[in-house]
Amino acid sequence: MFSSSTHKTKKSTLSFSKDEFNILDSYVIIEGRKYHNIDGLGYPLPCDESEASRLILLHYIFRLIFGGNFSSPISNLLSAGGMTILDIGCGPGAWVSENSNNYSKSTFIGLDIIPDNFPSEKDRLPNAAFIQCNVLDGIPFPVNTFDFIHQRCLLQAFTIKEWRSVIGEICRVLKRGGWIEFSEKDLKLINPGPIMKKISNAKSAANEINPYVIHKLKEFLKDTGKIENIKIVEKIAPVGSWGGKIGELIFKNTLSSLNGLCGKIAPILNIPMEDYNSLLNQLEEDVNKHQTSYRIVRIFGQKAF
Ligand SMILES: C[S@@+](CC[C@H](N)C(=O)[O-])C[C@H]1O[C@@H](n2cnc3c(N)ncnc32)[C@H](O)[C@@H]1O
Repeated sequence: MFSSSTHKTKKSTLSFSKDEFNILDSYVIIEGRKYHNIDGLGYPLPCDESEASRLILLHYIFRLIFGGNFSSPISNLLSAGGMTILDIGCGPGAWVSENSNNYSKSTFIGLDIIPDNFPSEKDRLPNAAFIQCNVLDGIPFPVNTFDFIHQRCLLQAFTIKEWRSVIGEICRVLKRGGWIEFSEKDLKLINPGPIMKKISNAKSAANEINPYVIHKLKEFLKDTGKIENIKIVEKIAPVGSWGGKIGELIFKNTLSSLNGLCGKIAPILNIPMEDYNSLLNQLEEDVNKHQTSYRIVRIFGQKAF
């Protein structure tokens, strides 16, 4: 057992079961889920197989909702070939794998701090590669390397200061005329019911990351003075079967993500894990009754020539 007083979520007096824990270990196990144990890294989600499956589902959800894997006007260039593309925080690499298959004449590199869920060597196409790297330490490539840089669902990974530093690095390694694209979920829910409100308020309190940073990304890009033609595409993501098949998938994904955050949210609510699980069990009815949804947003722009 470990006391939550040693955990970042200090408000609770509850304890959560944790396997033997060594400060030198790369991972910690909390409530049967595996998390990184990297000093100074705020990213709160697990990094086990179950999370990898959730991220693969998330990939299909984003593609379905936006009707494609990216919104930047680059598909002809990718098809023509010779483009070099970086995916920051690639997770299990679904975006890289699919695009390296769709655009076999361009080269795709996935980068993630946790390499465990990268596709195995035999599942990678020759034009796809994966590297382990903490993007907060810089992007380990020379200036003007990439034609396109994609980054999806890292809202919970960076503070505002870190966002600015990552964007600075992106501008450095992006070629002139190259495109940068962020895909993010707006953490502010539309029509949350009482259960969803309770859980998401606790989630915000547990997270030291500003949940509204999504509204700042355009400004951050503009402030570099290097990115122009900035555009935003916004879609609505229904949560629950009230929104049809896609809503069912989004609900499944949401539930899995909230399960992965159990060790952060339950201490804030000051309830034991059984009560947290019981709240999650009531969530489906809650989202369907209130027709809960959220916005997902793509923000993209071009490095000036
Ligand atoms: C929510 S997942 C999104 C994965 C993928 N982009 C997708 O959309 O399916 C966030 C990923 O960012 C990675 N990550 C978090 N902080 C990072 C950092 N500082 N440097 C590199 N990767 C990081 C995590 O390990 C995780 O795989």
